[in-house]
Amino acid sequence: MTSSTADGVVASIPDDPYDDANLTDPYPLFDRMREAGPAVWLEQYGVHAFTRFEQCRQILADHERFISGAGVGPRNYHQEPPWRPAGILDSDPPAHTPLRTAMSGVISPRNIRVLRAAFQEFAVRLVDRVLEQREFDAITELAELFPIEVFGNAVGIPREGRAENLLPHGAMNFSAFGPEDARYARYFAAGEGTVEWVMSNCARENLSPDGLGAKIWEYADQGVITSDEATRLVRALLSAGLDTTVLAIGNTMKCLATHASEWAALHESPPLARFAIDEALRFESPFQSFFRTTSRKAEFHGVRLAEDAKIALFMGAANRDPRRFGDDAGEYRIERDASGHLAFGIGIHQCVGQPISRLEMDVLFSELARRVRTVELVGEPVPFLHNTLRGWTHLPVRVTPA
Ligand code: HEM
Repeated sequence: MTSSTADGVVASIPDDPYDDANLTDPYPLFDRMREAGPAVWLEQYGVHAFTRFEQCRQILADHERFISGAGVGPRNYHQEPPWRPAGILDSDPPAHTPLRTAMSGVISPRNIRVLRAAFQEFAVRLVDRVLEQREFDAITELAELFPIEVFGNAVGIPREGRAENLLPHGAMNFSAFGPEDARYARYFAAGEGTVEWVMSNCARENLSPDGLGAKIWEYADQGVITSDEATRLVRALLSAGLDTTVLAIGNTMKCLATHASEWAALHESPPLARFAIDEALRFESPFQSFFRTTSRKAEFHGVRLAEDAKIALFMGAANRDPRRFGDDAGEYRIERDASGHLAFGIGIHQCVGQPISRLEMDVLFSELARRVRTVELVGEPVPFLHNTLRGWTHLPVRVTPA
């Protein structure tokens, strides 16, 4: 890994943010890192790490000084090749620009609006089912099922094989945004074989003609992108679109199941769903961290950064920065104005799939809010330990109908 030297003004931290204990409860270490200064030096990884909101925001917004083209994990593509050909996320302008044009053209307000009816129909069926069950696992029986069905249909991929391939594929892909340790190796081992399934479903002939995947190929017909780029953009939809939303739904359920008064407020006023979701994205960000690389030597908030150096950004910490969200930043409150959080990133790489995720969550939580009077935990949630992502693998809950 590339390293720049700590320069005296930066506190040096021996802790490992990627060990089991810190992944299980990252916030005490995040608080210490944030309070230690605008950056800290992570001794175990030889990188500067940023945890304050304002610094993370500025780095993400400055794609010329802090590039993505050398990878958004600790591996520096200038020295070592990526594990798979780079795509939209790990590219810089000018290569990034046509990819973004095609992707945002496909995920347009018009193309997304027409998805609502099908999302709504499945949300009703799912809520019927969980209300009948009363006790269920809010991850495996709700958070995973919803996007696997509605997002899979929206993209236009075959139903068979979705769950077995897309979830492990996403977990593997996002592992490359963190250190290449034993956990990384485990997710790569678990994802073996999924690449073939994903890549075969990026091919035009395997996509349904009315889905978002097929719409990406229309940009290849128009000459905006090449066939190779179209394949990689469908790949981006499939590898970035599912796990993230599954985690966001699960995290929102966890927040609401452990904050009875917040559920009561939501049930009282279902239009608050989008605030409950945004606050959960801030409070328990599905993307906790990723990296950028300096394109040149830089002095940033008094921190001297070498050229071509990796820097780590901890959005999970930035989104709880009291400087931005107030002294109660460590609390989940749905009436807070959480807008501006960094859970979807910011700048030219800001999540292009955000409108789809937001629609999925808005439809699902509005339906739950209307029809579920109470939700509570009935067992210990099992954390999903991952170097980049945050969420739960099991969340046993009980619901009562309205
Ligand atoms: C709640 C769910 C989601 C979260 C928290 C999330 C988060 C993010 C973040 C933080 C980034 C910026 C990464 C960076 O700056 O390096 C990003 C980019 C991206 N996301 Fe999402 N995402 C979500 C859902 C989706 C969905 C549903 C899709 C696909 C439909 C998607 C596709 C993408 C793509 C293609 C990029 C790269 C954009 C670019 O580089 O221009 N995401 N996402």
